[in-house]
Amino acid sequence: MKTFFILGRNPELSRAEILEFLKTRNREHKEIMFRDNILIIETNEGEKFNIQEFGGIMWLGEITFEGTPEKLEEHLESIEIVPADKFSYGIFGNIDEELLKNKFKERKKKATIKHGSKQLKMQDGSKINIPKAEFYIFCYEDAGVTYFGTSTQEYDSKDVKNRDMNKPMRRELLAISPRLSKILINLSGAKPRDLMLDPFCGVGGILQEALIKGINVHGIDKDKQATIDAIANLEWMKENYKFNSKYTIENKDSRKTPDLQFSGIATETPLGKVLRKKPNDNEAKQIIRNFEAYMIPILSKLAKVKKPKANIAITFPTIRDFHTDAQKIAEKTGLKVYIKPILESRPDQFISRDIVVFK
Ligand SMILES: C[S@@+](CC[C@H](N)C(=O)[O-])C[C@H]1O[C@@H](n2cnc3c(N)ncnc32)[C@H](O)[C@@H]1O
Repeated sequence: MKTFFILGRNPELSRAEILEFLKTRNREHKEIMFRDNILIIETNEGEKFNIQEFGGIMWLGEITFEGTPEKLEEHLESIEIVPADKFSYGIFGNIDEELLKNKFKERKKKATIKHGSKQLKMQDGSKINIPKAEFYIFCYEDAGVTYFGTSTQEYDSKDVKNRDMNKPMRRELLAISPRLSKILINLSGAKPRDLMLDPFCGVGGILQEALIKGINVHGIDKDKQATIDAIANLEWMKENYKFNSKYTIENKDSRKTPDLQFSGIATETPLGKVLRKKPNDNEAKQIIRNFEAYMIPILSKLAKVKKPKANIAITFPTIRDFHTDAQKIAEKTGLKVYIKPILESRPDQFISRDIVVFK
């Protein structure tokens, strides 16, 4: 069966998240198409996805038709596209709008097509119009083949926002988004019942998203207050959400990570002091070099406490055009760059991040 995914603001990162999720679970899969923010994956029959397990997917659904544009017309004759008499719909893809409009008219359905009512700013600076509709139709023609389906799942951003905004302890400046937390967890290779490490856990943003996925977590932070706050947040999670996974938090330097064997490491690194103004080239270069020197002994330790199959999904700072040298770090720590750096940036921030996955 084939599933289509409408990806969020960083399609390359979201694609990596989905592919790694499948690999980790030994689920056979084949990438059929990846264009803009659209991905189609083929898996074994009956294999379902739960969109809430991911950080980077906005909508998904099954491809119910695949063939030539002429055959699509026949297909649309034979099916009830939307089982309601009055509805609004949005389109993802490159189908001729008139075709659907006519179909609904023929069937005397009061269907209103909605066009972009909000804009999603993509990582590369482009903008995608997202229609606000009751129903979404996916139709994409690529190299003479048309894929058609309707969306069956939508990302529940309300619930995720609730967790993020209502937890008792927040640190605005250092907060990680639940979206990026989920992506890092999926990239780390950790699955339900595994033990995952966050060696720079702060107030526990990544840990809380892992717990809710049923992953046991171990968090380390050298800042005592951060660990106290992380515990408060995770206790709040226990009161407000159902999960059986467990957590432990340690207040120490992550160079002294205990000699456990972790199935995944997902973390957001410290950038040192918070920058109030954009550094010049020399300052930027220096910050990155200092960061590399700081991380090497820590990653050397992490290399020893991860299971052979486990990944380290980590954020590295990027300032101006200066990137942390992931390859150099790999060589010095005995790790391998498994997924090459993927830039994650926002136009309003002068420190961006590369997401790197080591094995
Ligand atoms: C960017 S913050 C992580 C934020 C975290 N994701 C959250 O949800 O709060 C980085 C954290 O790394 C911690 N840290 C920095 N160097 C460390 C070290 N050597 N060992 C352990 N923790 C460290 C800092 O105290 C800080 O809380």
